[in-house]
Amino acid sequence: MRLGMIGLGRMGMNMVRRLIRDKHEVVAYNRTPDKVDKITGEGAEGAYTVEELVSKLFAPRIVWIMLPAGKIVDKQISALAELLEPGDIIVEGGNSRYTDDIRRSAELENKSIHYLDAGVSGGIWGLEVGYCTMIGGEKKVFDMLTPVLESLAPQDGFLYCGPSGSGHFVKMIHNGIEYGMMQAYGEGFALLEASPYKDNFDYRKIAHLWNQGSVIRSWLLELLEDAFKEDPKLNDIIGYVDDSGEGRWTVEQAIESRVAAPVIANSLFARFQSRDDNSFSDRVLAALRREFGGHAVKASDK
Ligand SMILES: NC(=O)c1ccc[n+]([C@@H]2O[C@H](COP(=O)([O-])OP(=O)(O)OC[C@H]3O[C@@H](n4cnc5c(N)ncnc54)[C@H](OP(=O)(O)O)[C@@H]3O)[C@@H](O)[C@H]2O)c1
Repeated sequence: MRLGMIGLGRMGMNMVRRLIRDKHEVVAYNRTPDKVDKITGEGAEGAYTVEELVSKLFAPRIVWIMLPAGKIVDKQISALAELLEPGDIIVEGGNSRYTDDIRRSAELENKSIHYLDAGVSGGIWGLEVGYCTMIGGEKKVFDMLTPVLESLAPQDGFLYCGPSGSGHFVKMIHNGIEYGMMQAYGEGFALLEASPYKDNFDYRKIAHLWNQGSVIRSWLLELLEDAFKEDPKLNDIIGYVDDSGEGRWTVEQAIESRVAAPVIANSLFARFQSRDDNSFSDRVLAALRREFGGHAVKASDK
């Protein structure tokens, strides 16, 4: 199929490579032109403006967006809406919030432009392994895109989830689960490191062992094997853990739907905690213990 790709970051660039490999014709645009030059050298058609990208597609045009979620995507869609025609298709493949998808698809429907929300998982390994893809929107539009999705995903690796927003809803929950799993691995290894046996332990070997038929084997644990291989005690990095939105949205969703999700919620808060090693809340606790019980506090060196 012929399609346009907007955004050649860690995700978009490799997705284009996977599509080209399967003989799709991809017109690629990126804010920074160097990346367009690079992918053009690998077989894509380059576009140096969004107008050029649209002009190089044929109706019904398919434009896949891989940009940071939020205002950047909204701005891009507004610009596209001025250039596309009725029947054309926008696929938002970043980590948009599902409520944004519902709004956008309704706005675009006024112009008869179709909108699919595609939650894409696979990270930098997607080029090799394929991108697990969760799609929401009109089923007939999803069906039209099947050849593209077959190329992007591994076998059985894409799913029509339902109406607009459902693809990113499933992706949001996927990422919430990811937060909880990562937290559990982190805590488990911290307990090993705090044990009397710690000098006997080789964490790469333990991660590797657990990946051999154990109940907790996983791709995350395989990645941890790699990380411990490079840096056996992870001394080269600081334990500062960022988040990019989906965990927060999952927790907000849990509150809204009154579903208890303590593991995911706590793993989100643990990330917040990781960014503050002398938090105000902990200083309040220490001060209170001193006030009511005369317990010793450690003075700060200011
Ligand atoms: N990385 C992952 O593991 C992963 C996994 C699943 C989903 N996602 C989602 O996929 C989307 C893309 O992620 P990524 O990892 O590819 O991001 P990335 O590597 O940071 O690349 C971001 C892309 O967006 C462009 N961009 C950034 N700000 C822009 C702006 N203000 N105007 C126009 N273009 C702008 C960048 O262009 P320049 O080259 O000019 O900077 C680049 O092409 C995000 O929604 C992300 O949450 C990422």
